[in-house]
Amino acid sequence: MKKRVFSAFLAAVLAFALILPGLGSAQAAGTKLVAITFDDGPGRYTNELLDGLAKRGAKATFFCLGQNAASYPNTLQRIVSEGHQLASHTYSHSNLPSIGTSAAIAEVEKTNKLYNSTIGGNENFMIRAPYGNSTADFRSKVKSPLFYWSVDTRDWEYRNATTVTNNILNNAYDGAIILLHDIYSTSVRGALDAIDILQDRGYEFVTVRELFHRRYVTPENGTVYYDCKPKGGQQAGLSAPVISVTASAGGSRISITGNEGVPIYYTTDGSPIGYGSSTYSGPFTVTGPCTIRAVSAYHLNGGRSPETKYEYTLPPASNAQIDVSDGVLSFGGVPENETVYYTLDGGDPTKNGTAYSGPVSITAPCTVSFYTAGANKIPTKVRSLHYSERENLFADVWPGKWYYDAADVAFQQGFMNGVEQYTFQPNGALTRAMVVTILYRMSGDPSPASITNPFKDVASGKYYAEAVEWAYQNSIVNGMTAVTFEPNRSISRQEMAQMLVRYLDYQGADLPDEAPGAADGYGDRKQISGWALKNVEIITSIGLMQGNEKGNFCPRGTATRAEGATVLCRMYDMLNSASESE
Ligand code: NI
Repeated sequence: MKKRVFSAFLAAVLAFALILPGLGSAQAAGTKLVAITFDDGPGRYTNELLDGLAKRGAKATFFCLGQNAASYPNTLQRIVSEGHQLASHTYSHSNLPSIGTSAAIAEVEKTNKLYNSTIGGNENFMIRAPYGNSTADFRSKVKSPLFYWSVDTRDWEYRNATTVTNNILNNAYDGAIILLHDIYSTSVRGALDAIDILQDRGYEFVTVRELFHRRYVTPENGTVYYDCKPKGGQQAGLSAPVISVTASAGGSRISITGNEGVPIYYTTDGSPIGYGSSTYSGPFTVTGPCTIRAVSAYHLNGGRSPETKYEYTLPPASNAQIDVSDGVLSFGGVPENETVYYTLDGGDPTKNGTAYSGPVSITAPCTVSFYTAGANKIPTKVRSLHYSERENLFADVWPGKWYYDAADVAFQQGFMNGVEQYTFQPNGALTRAMVVTILYRMSGDPSPASITNPFKDVASGKYYAEAVEWAYQNSIVNGMTAVTFEPNRSISRQEMAQMLVRYLDYQGADLPDEAPGAADGYGDRKQISGWALKNVEIITSIGLMQGNEKGNFCPRGTATRAEGATVLCRMYDMLNSASESE
């Protein structure tokens, strides 16, 4: 019994390693640093400002008023989770010296409490006293440094975006703290325009906290700071963490790396990085789809890197290789922790499947449906193949199709092969090269007498090169021109008629020399080319090619692979029965 082995898909390689750099909009790190600050918000323009800052990768500090922040909890969250610094401008904007130290401290603490309950932290937020006024007594008791400004844009006075922009541009310097108010649309527009220009001039926009940290200055509680000019060196900004993913048993191993000595915070449920996030301490395993977000941060409020985000999906299970030899079905290419489920009756293997445990005898014809599944793997799609009467496996040839037998015979005899694994492509175009190759195989692959291929479009390495040469030497085909064969052109039905008559002639078949009038019954008889008419008549008279259901021959129509298989198998039968009867 003949043995037909279908080696299957390319072995699926599961091990994969993925390295993801941060995708956040990071501004180019500059050596000139500037802290832009917004007082008295949040307000109705703050979200627009945050959008503009995000687009530019610029960070800012927001000295919000507790009384305003209470109405904008989402904006407050957004300020922190987008890497800006949330800071305190007290609760109600009182002139602190006029209300006394204990009331002033109460203002600060009320604001801290509100912020911490809103963003989930537990810290004393950095302070800017309203009007830049505070007493020594207040400063001796407050648990924060005080940050004032070195560039006053007087945006509240001018309310003109261009003036705001110019006031920033004309006064900014390396280490400056710039004062604005995000409660005016003119301030927001003016600030964003100035950021564009200053970024082009090499400025990096950082939070107040980062400005001082990068310059090795540790602000002290109760001290007032106006700027932080470069002296004593500067460290580089934080870069987005790198997430690496490697396959591991039961899931994937996630490693995160970032700036040396700087903590990495991450979440695996897609939520933004905040005070509740995990601190990275080493590789961890994920076993199901999840979204990992990570930042490096020396402080979660205003000192973080751009974010890295990674959507993790389960790795796919392996595609099984199917093999049917001498009626014995086996599956391969699947690791031990995965299982192939299959049915042989056309049923759905996900519901009624048998787990494959070893080779099994099957009886043709039948339908083999199978897929692979494994713990923490995405199951493969169900694949169904027909195991035919003649023991071929087909993905696209099914019982009941008019070309079923022809395709099956063509495969069994080896004169047609699949276009791809298991696929016959019945509706695919039949090319000139295919027909010549089929005839060549039917003849038993006779080596051509010599290689004198006159066709410059038939390269010697092509699968059809020897077949074209053989067919040309035996006058079975002509070129389209003296030097071109056009191997990949779809064959027309009248070309096929000509080729088949010449082939039958070559095989010494008993053919009429001519069959005048045999094509007269075709409704489109007049469309048959003069050079083809005689052969169309002959092929019709022996019953090898016929008209369609409307009685047309369609001489210029092209043939599908299914039609080709049918005609060629019919011819094969004719030749074989003729030789048997001799
Ligand atoms: Ni103010």
